Amino acid sequence: MTMGAYADAYQRSRTDPEGFWLDAAAAVDWDRAPTRALDDSGRWFPDGVLNTCFNALDRHVRDGRGDQDAVIWDSAMTGQVSRWTYRELLDRVSRFAGALRARGVGKGDRVIVYLPMIPEALVVMLACARIGAVHSVVFGGFAPKELAARIDDARPTVLVAASCGLEPNRVVEYKPIVDEALRLAEHRPEGGVLIFQRDQVRAELGPGEADAAEELAASEPTDCVPVAATDPLYVLYTSGTTGRPKGVVRDNGGHAVALRWSMSAIYDIGPGEVFWTASDVGWVVGHSYIVYGPLLAGATTVVYEGKPVGTPDAGAFWRVIAEHGVKALFTAPTAFRAIKRVDHEAAELARYDISGLRTLFLAGERLDPETYQWAVRTLEVPVVDHWWQTETGWPICANLRGLEPMPIKPGSPTVPVPGFDVRVLDQAGEELPTGADGAICIKQPLPPGMLPTLWGDHERFVESYLSRYPGYYLTGDSGHVDEDGYVFVMGRTDDVINVAGHRLSTGSMEAVLATHPAVAECAVIGVRDELKGQVPRGFVVLKSGVQADPEALRAELVAAVRDQIGPVAAFRDVDVVDGLPKTRSGKVLRKSMREIADSGETKVPSTIEDPAVLEDLRAALRGDR
Ligand code: COA
Ligand code: AMP
Repeated sequence: MTMGAYADAYQRSRTDPEGFWLDAAAAVDWDRAPTRALDDSGRWFPDGVLNTCFNALDRHVRDGRGDQDAVIWDSAMTGQVSRWTYRELLDRVSRFAGALRARGVGKGDRVIVYLPMIPEALVVMLACARIGAVHSVVFGGFAPKELAARIDDARPTVLVAASCGLEPNRVVEYKPIVDEALRLAEHRPEGGVLIFQRDQVRAELGPGEADAAEELAASEPTDCVPVAATDPLYVLYTSGTTGRPKGVVRDNGGHAVALRWSMSAIYDIGPGEVFWTASDVGWVVGHSYIVYGPLLAGATTVVYEGKPVGTPDAGAFWRVIAEHGVKALFTAPTAFRAIKRVDHEAAELARYDISGLRTLFLAGERLDPETYQWAVRTLEVPVVDHWWQTETGWPICANLRGLEPMPIKPGSPTVPVPGFDVRVLDQAGEELPTGADGAICIKQPLPPGMLPTLWGDHERFVESYLSRYPGYYLTGDSGHVDEDGYVFVMGRTDDVINVAGHRLSTGSMEAVLATHPAVAECAVIGVRDELKGQVPRGFVVLKSGVQADPEALRAELVAAVRDQIGPVAAFRDVDVVDGLPKTRSGKVLRKSMREIADSGETKVPSTIEDPAVLEDLRAALRGDR
């Protein structure tokens, strides 16, 4: 029987992972090529030595791509567009690597990166990779306290920031956020703080702080430092079920091999083609497909500072596609919902020629059928849903456009990507039959590129992901596989929510609400939202005897979440209720709360302690009280 290219590749990745991944590794330039793919402890390319920055930049210049654009920066916020060739980007990166080194950053040292969507973000990340340092990028929408938590966990030698980020309604000054974070943190970056000054705001620099662009210009180019494939490339913090973020570690070798392979097999993007991921370098999507993936492939990456709507209009995405010759766009469904809401007939499209666009890739949250249909009708190109997480670093399930395009089933991110042995398990850990919903897990060994551990806390890694079902990685998502092997992802089984494609923890919001002096108990759940997919909604029970003006209290609680987590939490709704629905053993029935919020109805769980609180909750959600 002849198999399709996908089935062939998938089967080989399972029966002969060594051969499959050593072949894929040949697309990477190694200082010492690996002789083995996987060792007994699940680490990839254990004897390989390489440099990720070399693979992203130097090798392309060496191979004659020096004059090709590496980065196109398009700021819809300022109207600026600039282009850097591979040679120009390499020059900046190698100089900035020199600047970092002069400040004491060496192999294995961490650098916190708090930058908006400017091309300097790529310079800093790649400069770290060049000298074997470990970058940890923090998204600009997080508050000082979140930045401080990451500083204390990563213990950076240097912190690099910009003077400001630009949001449609305001200039976000970063320096006061950095100052406050450093005041809250115990750790001091002994190599100092470097600031990229932007025209909109110039930050005042104090002792131990310097102008990043000046240091870059004054530094000598520095060469690549070879690192072990298993050495960390970066740490990216993501929301877990508790308030404490998890430091997802990415290694160098597995990551380079997996991303390089994904660029051709999944995204069908080759050298010289323009790839645009409209996300942010602060998220995993940005790490993998704004920075590393396209550059490892020798493609041109678009760095877009702007929104899908309002900067200045709902044609912004079409303009970027047309102006820069974008072949594939990757973004979150929310961005398309935002455009659809403002320009349902896509009238703006008439102003641009986007005939060069081949594919739209969507991920980060569930792709609802309506948005899918709208995108297909509007763009007239394949709309490819694919499913992945910060932890995996690249897609678990996808329609592999470069390997073998498969029929699309709306609602499904298609099939498991080679390397990911996807299984659906029941509570007891038994594999479920076709069509049955359960916990989606990945059978070990895990593919290259996936996190090998959590920064400084291997026990938490094992406990969070590997202990629930021995031999399997727990994705935290539920869903099923149909008779054709298509995977359907239904939603998280834990307290992680997805707000406009941003992953947030309801636990961390609860931790903020609980510190308010009037609050005895609280719960935060994700409720359905037409634009953002989900938004957080809080419920608080007051301490007995406390009288509080509900409006004033609401405003205080909303402000507290914004101050302590950040505007990105989009926390706006909170109600005072008489009690939270709980089991007799005291567990808050968040699932029942979610059902009431989304449908208005829920069966009263037989375990509930006091059914009357559900009625009170319904009234709060209806706005009757
Ligand atoms: N720095 C500082 N603040 C930021 C920020 C950043 N990098 N990113 C967002 N924020 C702020 C916003 O200004 C907003 O603040 P406000 O409450 O003062 O208005 C708040 O965080 C919420 O932002 P967001 O969730 O983005 O909502 P929005 O209403 O500003 O925009 C969309 C809605 C749909 C246009 C926007 O979410 C979007 O473009 N989404 C695309 C999806 C995406 O990129 N996902 C990333 C993962 S792939
Ligand atoms: P993040 O780590 O921020 O990438 O978020 C990962 C989570 O987003 C996953 O665990 C899913 O819950 C959700 N997610 C990402 N992509 C998809 C998708 N294509 N369909 C459904 N959910 C998705």
